[in-house]
Amino acid sequence: MSSFVSVTRDGGVAVVNIDNPPVNALSFHVREPLMQALILLRDEPSVAAIVIACAGRTFVAGADITEFGKPVQQPELRPIIAVLEEIAKPTVAAIHGTALGGGLELALGCHFRVAEAGARLGLPEVKLGLPPGGGGTVRLPRLVGADKALGMIVSGTPINAAEALGAGLVDAVFDSDLTARAISFARDMAAKGGPFMPVRDRNDRLDPAGLPEFDEQAAKLAKKARGLEAPIACAQAVRNAITLPFDEALAAERKLFLKLVAGDQSRAQRHLFFAEREAAKISGKDLSRRKVARVGVIGAGTMGGGIAMAFANGGYPVTLLETSSEALERGLATIDRNYAVSVARGSLSEDAKRQRLGLFKGTTDYGDLADCDLIVEAVFEEMAVKKDVFGRLDAVAKSGAILATNTSYLDVNEIAASTSRPQDVLGLHFFSPANVMKLLEIVRAERTDADALATVVELARRIGKVPVIVGVCHGFVGNRMLAARGAESEALLLEGATPSRIDRAFTDFGWPMGPFQMGDLAGLDIGWRNRKARGQTAVIADALCEQGRFGQKTGRGFYLYENGSRVSVPDPDVEALIRAKAAENGIAPRTIGADELIERTLYPLVNEGAKILEEKIAARASDIDVVWVNGYGFPVGKGGPMFWAGLEGVDKIVARLDHWHERTGRQVFRASPLLRRMAETGSWE
Ligand code: COA
Repeated sequence: MSSFVSVTRDGGVAVVNIDNPPVNALSFHVREPLMQALILLRDEPSVAAIVIACAGRTFVAGADITEFGKPVQQPELRPIIAVLEEIAKPTVAAIHGTALGGGLELALGCHFRVAEAGARLGLPEVKLGLPPGGGGTVRLPRLVGADKALGMIVSGTPINAAEALGAGLVDAVFDSDLTARAISFARDMAAKGGPFMPVRDRNDRLDPAGLPEFDEQAAKLAKKARGLEAPIACAQAVRNAITLPFDEALAAERKLFLKLVAGDQSRAQRHLFFAEREAAKISGKDLSRRKVARVGVIGAGTMGGGIAMAFANGGYPVTLLETSSEALERGLATIDRNYAVSVARGSLSEDAKRQRLGLFKGTTDYGDLADCDLIVEAVFEEMAVKKDVFGRLDAVAKSGAILATNTSYLDVNEIAASTSRPQDVLGLHFFSPANVMKLLEIVRAERTDADALATVVELARRIGKVPVIVGVCHGFVGNRMLAARGAESEALLLEGATPSRIDRAFTDFGWPMGPFQMGDLAGLDIGWRNRKARGQTAVIADALCEQGRFGQKTGRGFYLYENGSRVSVPDPDVEALIRAKAAENGIAPRTIGADELIERTLYPLVNEGAKILEEKIAARASDIDVVWVNGYGFPVGKGGPMFWAGLEGVDKIVARLDHWHERTGRQVFRASPLLRRMAETGSWE
């Protein structure tokens, strides 16, 4: 029929096979022949049952995201599902890999769904800033109930085959031979005889009496949406499935989808979807990958322990090295405790915990790192200490082993040059807690081999991290831009803002927390120590640290945290301290509007991003967005700082930077030439 959709026969069962690598997205060139095939099979008397299956690694993983926001080429998905639902003979979706978004919606158009044991099913559109648009919000609740559907659709998190079976989403799960088993399932159903009820006509799991609880659950989810429209739209669409007749609910879902697909938030989230995948690509010759079977981690403190857990969670055996057996025991005990917390929370089984702990081998002997293919050091952040560690590694690591430093700021070229194998040295900058945070800055030093880079990029994705390759500079991409974002913080306080006023401007913008809440969480003493080492000062933050106010860990920082609470409570003493310091410096307080707070913090952030691009520390503007969304909580609905700059207006940003530069003379406001060029050309190139 077409190279993308073919039909084979097994007796009276027709198998429609979709083959559109890599993930069988429902592109126009698939939809058209799929529609034709279904119409043909619907009308053909010799066909008793129909199976829809997919070639390659997965069932249909969704609509073709590249088509979103463009004029729709007919047939779109909904008429295809409408044809499916007209078919009187049994229709069966045979699901392997992932049935996501439009893929699951297609499967919901079938009478039955069978899945391979490893399959995952979900409606992740919310992660693209959208509600499902092909009937998912109206059909899924009819199978699994409105509450379960709400959870799945608002979170976007897929469920596995066993859960899907329990929930009523699939009718059978097979360990192997999926297509053959689906064919015999279809044949059995045909033999039983109809009529077969399409999902659209099943109303038994929709209970209007459950609306008050549903609304309560939806209200809780809406609170967590933090300004994102899609979770709210998803909840509204599922509610419609309960309160409206099927066709009206379907039309309402489409309306919501069309509204959001044209909006900035979905554009931003689609940008991030492709940006994450683009960031993991390394240009150049055909790169080979080095084999990584065992990972070594040096240092079992918070960072080293977290890194070791990240690899163990990805299934890698880890050799964990500490300088003394006491420190090693302490580190391993912390890891054990962290896993126990996951078990207590229900996110990890006892069995999985045992398996993961079984992957750890503790040692105090560098010689035990000789069989590791990748070794990551997470020791004290000081060049001399790092060089000492790399000297020892150079002596024991096997040839071809990748040697990585987890430095946040230090010069990776200098570290690499201290070894006899700089081609094998790179930076792996994890973010704390390293077993949780998704971002991984992979630092490419001058002499790092491209195949070593390609190896760690692939490895990073395998352990669930979002890798971004960055060049060497102080703070790399993330922390260097963070410094630019924070450069005006003290000045804003002295001029009349309060920590809570500034933090509020950030949370209103969509950040999970503001800079002062973040400082209190991370510990103010870290920055204090860094400033002292670099001969720098920060009037307010230094004064707080001198009083022993290090943030949450001491119960006091920019805010108060009473009785171990994590809620930031404004402290009149801090505000008095700020006013006193302002008076000492002869600064009269004034009211500072939210616009100014954003201009003086986020415009320098964008500006620093442009400088980073100019210096080729990041390869693409979208890489910077990936760093900021995954490592620093930049709101996903704004797409990262560089994407947001486009929404905000780069010409406006340049004009305001110029204004502040003229007023203050501060470097942080000196607009980069690339930013100026971007304002004129609309391109970061
Ligand atoms: N439309 C268009 N392209 C898609 C796509 C989609 N729905 N899903 C994946 N792709 C592309 C990716 O951009 C990538 O392209 P590239 O190789 O040129 O970079 C390629 O397919 C492979 O995807 P990737 O995510 O790297 O593979 P994976 O094996 O890690 O993950 C999935 C596979 C299906 C789990 C993942 O791609 C995914 O979640 N896709 C989106 C699903 C979705 O949101 N569907 C709802 C849309 S209605």
